[in-house]
Amino acid sequence: MNDYAQSAPTPHPTNAHPARVYNVWLGGKDHYLVDQEAAELAAQANPTIVPSVRANRAFLGRAVRHLAASGVRQFLDIGTGIPAADNTHEVAQRAVPESRVVYVDNDPIVLSHARALLVSGPQGQTDYVQADARDVDTILDAASRTLDFEQPVGLMLVAILQYIKDAEDPWDITRRLLDRLAPGSHLVLSHPAADVTSTEVAESMRIYNERAASHASATPRTREEVERFCDGLEILDPGVVTLTRWRPGPTDASDDSLPMWCAVARKA
Ligand SMILES: C[S@@+](CC[C@H](N)C(=O)[O-])C[C@H]1O[C@@H](n2cnc3c(N)ncnc32)[C@H](O)[C@@H]1O
Repeated sequence: MNDYAQSAPTPHPTNAHPARVYNVWLGGKDHYLVDQEAAELAAQANPTIVPSVRANRAFLGRAVRHLAASGVRQFLDIGTGIPAADNTHEVAQRAVPESRVVYVDNDPIVLSHARALLVSGPQGQTDYVQADARDVDTILDAASRTLDFEQPVGLMLVAILQYIKDAEDPWDITRRLLDRLAPGSHLVLSHPAADVTSTEVAESMRIYNERAASHASATPRTREEVERFCDGLEILDPGVVTLTRWRPGPTDASDDSLPMWCAVARKA
């Protein structure tokens, strides 16, 4: 566990931040006025945002349950978000109590909530690392204290890669993370779409980006660009699809036009 007493969220931030804006859309209380304004204006421009973030959490749960059923016992969840219902360790440990999870986020507000992420069941283990996804070696070195890289890991990049610009090469970051993971590891990925309800998505991103710091601005991507994150991996059925099309259960939303791509892919 990092020393999270040292970093507290800024009392009155001037920029919206992804974790807090996402918290507004999920109906949480951990955000500031600037986040609430960005979230509400973006959702007015793109009314699918709220159903999309709910469907995104539901996808995360289905993917973790699938990995647990496939024998994956360790998870590296980068871009964790403020704890919400059914965090990765809760879903994984419900299926397999021995599951280990390392959470990573770069927002101090997530760090300030990290205790909720560290309440592991007694047979499993969790850790929280305060780091930026661009610092691949820092993340892998810290995660190796908890995870055994000789065994398969579920690499969760769920609704985070949009915050890494093309110029920062999020594809290379993903590849470098996967390089250190054992065969049988899986990539779990979701990403806002640039090619589904594209006018509304572009406008809502413009509204968010106007209020966010440059390092946290967001870029939607096409299905083809999202598929490239899975290069060299075996993409599991049904492929790169919108959220509600990835192995939905009977209680999952059925709106298949929500503008987020998702996929689960296996390293051979
Ligand atoms: C939209 S939320 C997604 C939360 C969670 N993965 C989910 O899908 O429910 C994105 C999270 O990624 C984090 N994040 C954004 N850019 C990041 C970066 N460069 N490094 C680490 N975390 C980042 C944000 O702080 C936020 O908590």
